[in-house]
Amino acid sequence: MDINKTPIIIGNDHAAYGLKEKIKSYLIEKDIDVEDAGTHNEDSVDYSDFGIRVAAEVSTGKFNRGILLCGTGIGMSMVANKFSHVRAALCSGLFSAIMSRRHNNSNILVIGARVTGSALAMEIVSAWLSTPFDGGRHQLRIEKFDSLGEAPK
Ligand code: RB5
Repeated sequence: MDINKTPIIIGNDHAAYGLKEKIKSYLIEKDIDVEDAGTHNEDSVDYSDFGIRVAAEVSTGKFNRGILLCGTGIGMSMVANKFSHVRAALCSGLFSAIMSRRHNNSNILVIGARVTGSALAMEIVSAWLSTPFDGGRHQLRIEKFDSLGEAPK
C-alpha cells in the first residue's frame, strides 16, 4: 500500500523524546515533511503544552495529520480530543492503528513510549500512514461528533 506523504506535525513530552527522534528519522527517510513542535530533550515538561500545539494545528487544518507521543499516550489523547475536528487514536497495536484510519479517519496518531516498544511503534506509524479511510457509513458517524466543542455558526 502507498504511504501517505502529507506533512506531519509531531509533538512529545520528555518521556517520549527518544521515540520521537526515531519516528522523525523514519518520516524524513520516507520523504515526508515533518514539523517538530517539541519538546526537544528529556528535561521534564508538561505533555499538555505540546499536545495543545499539535492538536490546534490539526484542528484548524494547518496540518492534516499529526503524531503525539508521551509516556502512556493517555494524556496526549485526552488533550488532543478536546479539539474539534481532531480524531486522535491511542494505538498500541497494528489492528487499532489500521482500524483507526479505516473506520475513524484518525488524524492524530498517539503512541505511549513507555507502553509500546520502538520497533512496534515504527510499524504502527507505517500502517497508520498507509491505510486509507473507508468513508461511507463511517463518514456519517464521524459527522455526528466532529464539530462538537465549536461555537455554533
Ligand atoms: C510523564 O511522566 C507522564 O505523565 C506523561 O508522559 C504521560 O504518560 C501522560 O499521560
